[in-house]
Amino acid sequence: MTYLVTGARGIVGRTVIDQLRSAGKSVRAASSQPAEATVPDGVELVGLDLADPKSIATALDGVDRIFYYAAQEGVDRFIDAAKSAGVANIVLLSSIAAASDQNFIGARHLAVERPLRESGLPLTILRPGAFAANARTWFATIKAERVVRLPFPELQLTPIHEADMAASAIAALDDPAHIGKIYPLTGPESLSHRQQVDAIAAALAEPVELVELSHEEAAEFFYPPVLDLWAEAGTDPSPVGPTSESVTGVPARTFAAWAVDHLADYR
Ligand SMILES: NC(=O)c1ccc[n+]([C@@H]2O[C@H](COP(=O)([O-])OP(=O)(O)OC[C@H]3O[C@@H](n4cnc5c(N)ncnc54)[C@H](OP(=O)(O)O)[C@@H]3O)[C@@H](O)[C@H]2O)c1
Repeated sequence: MTYLVTGARGIVGRTVIDQLRSAGKSVRAASSQPAEATVPDGVELVGLDLADPKSIATALDGVDRIFYYAAQEGVDRFIDAAKSAGVANIVLLSSIAAASDQNFIGARHLAVERPLRESGLPLTILRPGAFAANARTWFATIKAERVVRLPFPELQLTPIHEADMAASAIAALDDPAHIGKIYPLTGPESLSHRQQVDAIAAALAEPVELVELSHEEAAEFFYPPVLDLWAEAGTDPSPVGPTSESVTGVPARTFAAWAVDHLADYR
């Protein structure tokens, strides 16, 4: 039995690949840029061009279960190929924003969810909130200067560890009881940006300074529509749950654990 994992260079795709390999499973990793991707020993790496039906058919040949990254392009071609391949289950990595099409993030993910749901293919949808791994964008300045520069330091999010998203994806791929379900997923606690920086400082056992950027200053470094959403969100705690425990049965990892897991990347 072979698992196809798309988006191999992404943090979630790569973690799914690592967890499947650790469990001794047969894995084919697919990337839009296979020359730029690295995979663990024993994992087959293929290119996946969602504009090219042949490339999709080759990637899906002999595959039983698919972790699908919500690329907007080529979803209809992907559906045709998945029907021909007769796959047992597909897990789609979507977004918690897909609960509504009222903002651009939700609309973008619904554009992939809808045709997949309507296709009749066996499908489980994961809708995570903010990734803990978004904090990787802070690593360069933490490493160089022990500083993080960001806007909205009191904005609260529920960061979710990529290992919990990957474990949820694999649990869903492995148990047909999950087919047809949509799982919103948050991390286990609401934390401000400032508290996330503090958790990283605690993992380092060194101070890390948070320098607040104005909305205008931040527009140089951050995607402006995301800044607008953050500005609207205010500073109230972000709703917690359901977490990955609703899929895996084990408690979700904290942001403090994530900071320790990535210490080597910013020490
Ligand atoms: N970040 C969040 O907080 C968040 C929250 C909820 C949902 N999501 C959704 O989850 C999905 C992945 O999220 P993400 O934004 O954090 O992306 P990511 O995991 O960094 O990468 C997503 C994909 O982009 C491709 N990619 C293109 N250039 C890359 C590069 N230089 N390095 C690594 N990968 C590259 C990779 O696929 P190939 O290997 O095929 O090129 C990869 O799987 C998206 O659909 C996103 O909307 C994100």
